[in-house]
Amino acid sequence: MKIEIIVNGVVYREETSPDQRLLDFLRDDLGLKGTKKGCDQGECGACSVLLNGKVVNSCLILMAQVPERSEIETIESSDSLILSLQESFIENGAAQCGACTPGMIMASSALLREKPDANLNEIREGLSGVICRCTGYQKIFDAIKDTQRGLVQK
Ligand code: FES
Ligand code: FES
Repeated sequence: MKIEIIVNGVVYREETSPDQRLLDFLRDDLGLKGTKKGCDQGECGACSVLLNGKVVNSCLILMAQVPERSEIETIESSDSLILSLQESFIENGAAQCGACTPGMIMASSALLREKPDANLNEIREGLSGVICRCTGYQKIFDAIKDTQRGLVQK
């Protein structure tokens, strides 16, 4: 099948198969390796991307389920909020092995777009689909809080 989709603002017209997973399409066909393959079965959230603004586990989405001309955002996006989150994760030491980081940042960006002043409980809930095995989460929450302060100051 042929599909036209917009990834990080770039229009792609690609040949794919209906049963190819979005994760593999992004990594293997488009070369966007920033989206990580963790558990590969919908458990860890490392593969989270935004599909038409909603966080999805790209390892669970088949290309047949991706509507034509969908907008997808990945960690390679140059969106200012995603870039701010990246900087804040680095400054706060919130990325250690980095396996979860793209998923954390994509889930955080969806949350902060919807609720820039989300409280800690809402942040916890917003990130509940992404598992970090390294940082104990506090540094991740600190990074998001710092990003929120930046949003408020702008
Ligand atoms: S790799 Fe998709 S949820 Fe773990
Ligand atoms: S930084 Fe290693 S899993 Fe989160």
